[in-house]
Amino acid sequence: MKAVVITKAGGPEVLEIREVSDPAPGAGQLLIDIRATALNRADLLQRQGHYPPPADAPPYPGLECAGTINALGESVTGWTVGQRVMALLGGGGYAEKVVVPQESVLPIPEGLSWAEAAAIPEAWLTAYSNMIEIGRLQSGERVLIHAGASGVGSAAIQLAKWRGATVFSTVSQQKVEGVRALGADVVIDYKQENFAERVLEESDGQGVDLILDFIGAPYWDDNLRALALWGRLVLVGLMGGREVKANLGLFLSKKLSVHGSTLRDRTLEQKQRLVAAFTREVLPAFASGQLRPILDERQFTLNEVAEAHRYMEANQNFGKVILLI
Ligand SMILES: NC(=O)c1ccc[n+]([C@@H]2O[C@H](COP(=O)([O-])OP(=O)(O)OC[C@H]3O[C@@H](n4cnc5c(N)ncnc54)[C@H](OP(=O)(O)O)[C@@H]3O)[C@@H](O)[C@H]2O)c1
Repeated sequence: MKAVVITKAGGPEVLEIREVSDPAPGAGQLLIDIRATALNRADLLQRQGHYPPPADAPPYPGLECAGTINALGESVTGWTVGQRVMALLGGGGYAEKVVVPQESVLPIPEGLSWAEAAAIPEAWLTAYSNMIEIGRLQSGERVLIHAGASGVGSAAIQLAKWRGATVFSTVSQQKVEGVRALGADVVIDYKQENFAERVLEESDGQGVDLILDFIGAPYWDDNLRALALWGRLVLVGLMGGREVKANLGLFLSKKLSVHGSTLRDRTLEQKQRLVAAFTREVLPAFASGQLRPILDERQFTLNEVAEAHRYMEANQNFGKVILLI
């Protein structure tokens, strides 16, 4: 099969399409013929040599895919050859085929294209796990979602509105209207105005109950300022940096809590629980059209993978960047 190989750590030019051996499903695993995959920021880090795949994952990048089941390993139950599925991967999505544990596979909701289905697993499971399960977002609460036009951010905004929350979101100027169209109530151009001040202004000085943050260090002080009493900060990415100096007194006086998590290296049991909860609670809302994966206007083929990486690295995408296989 063809797969994208990271020939050495570096820029997009180190990505090469090569002929590699086909994977074969072991016990409890499925072989999927991939029709589409989607980019994630983690793929850029992996290419740069900063985010190696877990030991049991394929070495090729790609954390999610959509396709058809080609073969079933021993003891797989509940899936049939030829079925349309999407999957959360430890790696290997940038390829024609991938082997995946049955616990990480989801059915494709009625009416979704390959590209739309490929845009769901990593972004939506990350948003669901961190904002709903870890962040415990409740109906009627205020949530601040940074990078609202990112793959994860665009999923989180829809999930939060669907759950009955009031959504604040930060985004760069050219993406403001798009994020408003996703349903965000207050959209803040973070390069033009201080987001904490705007949050306090728009919430009668109270702040937000929950923040979903991908930026890290440069947002730390303003995140703490923007949080309400008993506020929760969930750190999911550190695109802006990782070192902070903290005033711990604020945690006591405002009764704050901070959480962080990664999805890729969770155990199979943890992924299975998450996939099952998401399949039960959220997937039906895709079939009914209440939720929709947000795809960037540009799509790429596997041959254009380096160009797709450059595009994401330049922060040009709105929603998910798709690679059609
Ligand atoms: N923990 C986990 O399990 C997990 C799983 C998946 C993703 N993630 C994380 O989630 C984040 C989003 O990933 P994605 O693939 O959805 O991203 P994406 O679609 O590539 O979007 C990233 C957007 O973030 C904004 N941004 C980038 N650097 C920034 C900075 N320094 N300050 C402010 N805004 C910045 C840019 O939008 P603007 O034009 O609006 O600035 C950029 O387009 C990443 O940090 C990723 O690592 C974590």
